[in-house]
This record gives sequence, C-alpha cells and structure tokens, in this order.
Amino acid sequence: MKNINCMFTKSWNDLKNHFQEIKNIHLKHLFSIDNNRFEKFSIKFKDEMLIDFSKNRITEETIKKLINLANETKLKDGIQSMFSGDKINKTENRSVLHIALRNRTNYKIIVDNTNIMTEINIVLKKMKDFSKLVINGQWKGYSGKAISDIVNIGIGGSDLGPYMVTEALRPYKNHLNMHYVSNIDGTHLSEVFKKVDPETTLFLIASKTFTTEETMTNANSAKTWMLYYFKNKNFLDKHFIALSSNIENVLKFGINIKNIFPFWEWVGGRFSLWSSVGLSIILSIGFHNFEKFLDGAHAMDNHFYETDFNKNIPVLLALISIWYTNFFRSETEAMLPYDQYMHRLPAYFQQANMESNGKSIDRNGNKILYDTGPIIWGEPGTNGQHAFYQLIHQGTKLIPCDFIAPIISHNKLGKHHLKLISNFLAQTRALAFGQTRDDLMKDLHFLQDTNKDIKKILNFKICQGNQPTNSILIRKITPYNLGSLIALYEHKIFVQGYILNLFSFDQWGVEIGKKLAQNIYSHLNNNSNNEYYDVSTQGLIKFYKFFS
Ligand code: F6P
Repeated sequence: MKNINCMFTKSWNDLKNHFQEIKNIHLKHLFSIDNNRFEKFSIKFKDEMLIDFSKNRITEETIKKLINLANETKLKDGIQSMFSGDKINKTENRSVLHIALRNRTNYKIIVDNTNIMTEINIVLKKMKDFSKLVINGQWKGYSGKAISDIVNIGIGGSDLGPYMVTEALRPYKNHLNMHYVSNIDGTHLSEVFKKVDPETTLFLIASKTFTTEETMTNANSAKTWMLYYFKNKNFLDKHFIALSSNIENVLKFGINIKNIFPFWEWVGGRFSLWSSVGLSIILSIGFHNFEKFLDGAHAMDNHFYETDFNKNIPVLLALISIWYTNFFRSETEAMLPYDQYMHRLPAYFQQANMESNGKSIDRNGNKILYDTGPIIWGEPGTNGQHAFYQLIHQGTKLIPCDFIAPIISHNKLGKHHLKLISNFLAQTRALAFGQTRDDLMKDLHFLQDTNKDIKKILNFKICQGNQPTNSILIRKITPYNLGSLIALYEHKIFVQGYILNLFSFDQWGVEIGKKLAQNIYSHLNNNSNNEYYDVSTQGLIKFYKFFS
C-alpha cells in the first residue's frame, strides 16, 4: 500500500483549477446542456439497485480528474492489498478482511500462512446449528423452557450493526423478541429487564475485546439479575453466549467454552456484523436469510474489486465525497433512508465513516493539511423534511445528501408508499433546481394573485438549489440487497480513507475518554480528592456530589 500525500499530486492541483471553473455553475445549467446526463451519471447494480449521481456538481471532466487522483494515489494497489490480506491496519499490525466473512465462492485467503476460510466456515456452521436449536425451541433455558427473548449486549460495532440490520430486515423476522442494550446508563438494561422473563431469555455478550467498560458492566449486571432468580451459577451455560475474539476473558467471565462464537483480530469492530457479532441477526431472520445477506455483500465486493473506476459505484461515490469535502469544503453528509425499517442506517454509518476517517495524521505520520472524513448524520424521510431540510434548502451550507429508498414496500398500505416516493423525488428535484423569483412570480401570475403583500415576501421563498444529492433506488429491501448496500458504503469509506492517506481501521482517538472516565470514576467512587483536575471539572464534580 502506497502512502501518497494526495495534496501534492498533479491531479489534486488539476482538481483545484477545475473547481474554480465549475464552482458557480448551477445544476440547472448542467442538466440543460446535456440530455444524456442521467445515462452518463447513473449505474445499475444487478438489476436490483439504481445509483443516480447525476444531481451532483460534476461534469465528465470532474469524474475524469477524480479518477486521475485515484490512479495517482494508487488506489488499485490499495484495494489489492486489502483483498489479499496485507496488514493494512499498520498501527495495530492487522489485516482488514471483513470481505473474507462473506467470501461465498470460498476462494483461499491466507493470513499468517493459514487459509482463514477454514475457520470462518467452522464458525458459520456453528452459528447455523445453534440458531436452528434456539429458533426451533430445542435450546432450553435453565428451567426447561424454550427461549423467547434475545438480549444482545454490546456497544459501537458490536451493537450498531446487528441492531440496524435486525431492524432493516424486520419483515423477515421470526417469533423471537430481539433487544439491544448498549448504553452504560442503567436505564437501558433496566428497561429490558422489565420486558423479559429470566427463564426464557438468552444473553449474547458481543465484544471483540471483552474489556469494553459499557459492555462488561451491562453483562455483569445481567449475570447478577439472573443469579437473583436462579440462585445457582450453572444457569450461565443455558443463558449466556459470547461473541468475541478474547477467549481468555470470556472464560474468566464464566461463559462455557462451548458457548463462545469466536471471531478474529482482522475483523474491525465496526465491520463485524458479518462475523459472529451477527448472531442476533441470524436468530432474528434465520440462517438462510443471513446467507443471502452475505451473498449480497459478496456481489458488491466483486463489483468493487473487478470494475473499472469509471463504473465502480463505491469508488465513484467516494471520489464525489472527496470532491465536496476538499474542494467545496462541505463539512457534513446526510444519509436519508426513505424506509422506516432502515431508521438506524445513518447511525450505523456515522460510526463506520467517522471512526474510520476522522483522523488528522496521515499514513506517514505527518499532520494533514486537507480535510478528511465528513460528519455523517441523518434521519429517515419524511421525518427529516419536517425537521432539518429547511437548512439544506435555504441555509448557507452545502450538504451533499444520499437519498435511499425501496421501490417495493414490505407494507402495502393504501397510497403510503407512492406518497413516500413522491416526497423522495420532489426533495431531490427541489434541492437540485431550487425555486427562483421568476418561478415564484409565474406561480403568482398563474394563480392570478395580485396581492402586493405576497410579493413583499417573495425573496424569503427563493431556494437557490444547486444542492447535490445521490439517489439510490433499491427494488426491495431484501437480505441480499441490504448486504450489497452495506458493502457499498463500507468500500466507499475504504476508498475515501485510502486516497486521503489515512489509516482507516484504527480508532486511537476513542481511547483518551475511556482512560479519563476510569480515573474520574475512581475519584467519584472513593470520594477522594480531585484537586488536580481543571476548575471546570472540579466544579461539576462538586455540584454532582452535592446532590448524589
Ligand atoms: O469505540 C471504540 C470501539 O473500539 C469500537 O471500534 C468498537 O466497535 C467498540 O468500541 C466496541 O468494542 P468491543 O467490541 O471490543 O466491545
């Protein structure tokens, strides 16, 4: 993997000059001069998905120059390095192989002289057999009753992914009730305790490291809660499962070795839903559907690996994102799923992108002088329309948005879906083309409205437009298509990080808060002196102690 400073490439300079030519051109103009714009800037994936990126502030020249940047920074080598198991996560000396977890053609992938597919397939088989027992009611709790509720305890990648997918694939779910507990706030777990019966509840403790404070605190409280009912530690074998790469710590916690579903250090936490961390997904939708989910991701992996950059969906979306962050200096990207089941998609990719590319030191260890990962945020449509779209339409910021919607809804309720999609199409049109004073005047004329007061407020109604969007239409949110969609964004994140010369697969920044929290906790717990904290922290602690 090459460590090229993108800012010092010829293509970066070309893009800078090109930006000066294009920055004031309106999307309206770009559409008016080219009737083939949609054909040129849209790609179909497997007849299941259409990605329309024509409503972006780009021309064919822009794409050409962005691809030059990808070539000059040796993106092809980077992709090759990831797929062949090179230790591209240098600061942790690890390979990055979530693609292996969905390697459905089972080609050999060698890490440290071992074909990792062998172990992957063993764990998959174990998950298949186990999930069958639980779903069929053959796995009994300590008092002999079948399991009715699954509680996944994990945080970050050990929660966001499986929770998001379980919600997105709700139409495929079986009778088991799924619960996800992540927050160290005791409220989260307490609320679940109110809903479940210890005799029929199975806890999945999902933690790659099995050291994460939040997860271990919640897992220990769950253990204590169960012990209160069963008065005997043997219940653990029937009610506690571990999804982890730290076998030693799992055993110390008291979970039976047979109940461990391992994964490996080359699976990044935020990319772990394809591993045993996905066990709650399997329990919810069945192994057969999980396999389709993996198939969909594998199909996107192949597309990413094999396709030329000018037709490569993750590559193009990543390049367009770099275009906005670094040349238009936009700071955020909104992700707007027009599908209620996908309500956790923005939160999931918020972690995936921001933990991966929120960095300011490049792969050579130098301070970075350009912009790196964008802030990712969003809400499901149409709720967002009545909350924050105002700022996108008329504010002072450029906010590229991804609109994502299924064509076929899982719930055929009257004209709801037609209205939902009409909103999707209306918003992307409005954002691109806006509404000028002339448009507004024409409307008034049409309505034969001569009220002078209305004319006075016309300026406030003007929408400049020229706000870029990608539209992703998916035939239906099936396990297969969701797998492809997630893999698409994972690879987009990889490409962004690779070209921006980042180590995308570590997350050292989150450590500082963890360490400080432990320190403060011991002060609060022992009531000891805290004089060496800053005055603000001291004041807050004093106020807290007054009431606690
Ligand atoms: O927030 C940091 C982080 O390490 C994430 O990358 C990870 O997904 C999360 O914590 C949980 O880690 P673990 O699975 O080890 O409990």
